Amino acid sequence: MKKNSYISLLILVISLFSRISAAQENLIQNISARSIISLNGRWNYIIDPYENGYYDYRREAFDQSKSGTGGYFDDKKQEDKSELLEYDFDHSPTLAVPGDWNSQVEKLDLYEGTIWYRNKFTAAPKQGKRYFLYFGAVNYEAHVYLNGKKLGMHKGGFTPFQFDITDRLRAGENSVVVKADNTRKKEEVPTINTDWWNYGGITRDVFIAETPASYISDYQIQLSKGSMGQIEGFIQLSGAEKSQKVTVEIPAAGIKTIVKADTSGRALIKLAVNNLEYWSPESPKLYDVTISTSNDHISDKIGFRSIVTKGKDILLNGKPVFLRGISIHDENPLIAGRARSEGDLRMLLTWAKELNCNFVRLAHYPHNEQMVRLADEMGLMVWAEVPVYWTIAWDNPETYKNAEAQMSTLITRDKNRAAVIVWSVGNETPLSDSRYRFMSNMVTHVRSMDNTRLVAAALEVHRKGFEVIVDDSLGEKIDLASFNEYGAWYWGGTPKELSKYHFNIKYDKPVVITEFGGDALAGFHGDEDTRWTEEYQEALYVSQLNMLSKIDGLRGMTPWILADFKSPRRPHPLYQNFYNRKGLYSETGKKKKAFFILKKFYDDTEKKYNTKSYGASK
Ligand code: GCU
Repeated sequence: MKKNSYISLLILVISLFSRISAAQENLIQNISARSIISLNGRWNYIIDPYENGYYDYRREAFDQSKSGTGGYFDDKKQEDKSELLEYDFDHSPTLAVPGDWNSQVEKLDLYEGTIWYRNKFTAAPKQGKRYFLYFGAVNYEAHVYLNGKKLGMHKGGFTPFQFDITDRLRAGENSVVVKADNTRKKEEVPTINTDWWNYGGITRDVFIAETPASYISDYQIQLSKGSMGQIEGFIQLSGAEKSQKVTVEIPAAGIKTIVKADTSGRALIKLAVNNLEYWSPESPKLYDVTISTSNDHISDKIGFRSIVTKGKDILLNGKPVFLRGISIHDENPLIAGRARSEGDLRMLLTWAKELNCNFVRLAHYPHNEQMVRLADEMGLMVWAEVPVYWTIAWDNPETYKNAEAQMSTLITRDKNRAAVIVWSVGNETPLSDSRYRFMSNMVTHVRSMDNTRLVAAALEVHRKGFEVIVDDSLGEKIDLASFNEYGAWYWGGTPKELSKYHFNIKYDKPVVITEFGGDALAGFHGDEDTRWTEEYQEALYVSQLNMLSKIDGLRGMTPWILADFKSPRRPHPLYQNFYNRKGLYSETGKKKKAFFILKKFYDDTEKKYNTKSYGASK
């Protein structure tokens, strides 16, 4: 090899090593409880439909080139009047972060592609501390740079991620640049077709968290599977000093235990407990839990409850429970767009409580961590889900890895939340051998990460005459007979004809109807046979509830859906106007007539369960 080419190869190798992106660390548990510098606020942005800021005109990626520069991530300023620079963040407009771009800028309402975000901030990093740049969610693919250097890339529009920036954070001014791209792709998760708006951008909190050099990076502290008298779990330490003593305290439960972490930083706890006040929707007791080592401590609020199935019953803390639920999208109906703040989230859960719910299905993807913490606090059990939705690329190994990674992140993030009782591996996925393998592997993976909760999915159903058959083979693998059915909307004629139908469910498991419903334009009235009227939706709920109440083993439901939401699949100019109108609340917060039908059913069901006259286990 000629000397010159040898030298250029050497330069290339060195430059590649110097730019290996900061590993995307495993998620730090309860990271928002750390000392943080919030980066929420106005970020400058550049719309880049041709990804001109990422590729040169020969479609070579700037950040993979020898110099690793040239892209918008350099955040360059024009230094000399003769200099050619064709972008300028300082003079670009701004977007609010957190917040999707669609709802902030009219021309971005249907935009799919890349938008560059830039935030300039000052920092004063301290010796002996570590710093992590954390994103609550970016939809869908994010490339992140700090001071012109690539930190890494993340895929998945609803899961948090972080980068260790300890060696890259400057004292003084820093520039963080994010390339956010919400382009839908067949092999992604979700795939190209969904019944929700493809809100793009940095949709959840962004901050820098500070920890000691050696820190508590993860922990799980819950009741053992099926136990009411034993707490178990683990604490994971990271950093140089791993094998340390770890103290776990739950003062209100009279617990203080000291364990030793091994050389990998892992400490296990298992301790008998008595007279715990168990978490439940009626009494959402959360205990203050503190974990400490010689140089770090973290506090959390954790509830303790048991959730198991027994035949056709779901037992919460050993007692039969009926899941009085509703499905919810992560969208503020009043100001269409991803929920932006705790206020948005609290409003949605308060609406669910007004319906007398004790359960919410956070469809169809991981919601904001704050939503799940509010459910803990307000007493609402949670069905959590990843967007393995409809026609996923079942045969693509990368697609499976992506789906499994999103599930792992969801479980890692929310495993200490008592409210979460179900991990769902997907929704309405068409039957095939490759889909069965994909979903079965997901179920196995969930159980390997967390055996303390139920595993489910929204199964497929089919009909033969007036028989609605539920025999999806995936049903054998999960803990619930959980499925969607749209009698009197997509099939079955008008509501009064629904009484002809009955169910043939092949599993001896608790039955949870994960979706039923129909559209109504709020304020549009007519007779109950007139589609889109509130009266049609009201009659649909009456006939659905009558039909479903005949199911032996009915133990819950999450009708579709709490509030009208935006969808590109719903264009009817009179009734939809790009809204899916199956909400019980309109997008203006008005309760439709069907709301009161479901509320009465839940009030009656609550009474029956409290008097144990309904489906109680013998
Ligand atoms: C499906 C799907 C939902 C969708 C609903 C509908 O079951 O799970 O995401 O919005 O039906 O058609 O309204």
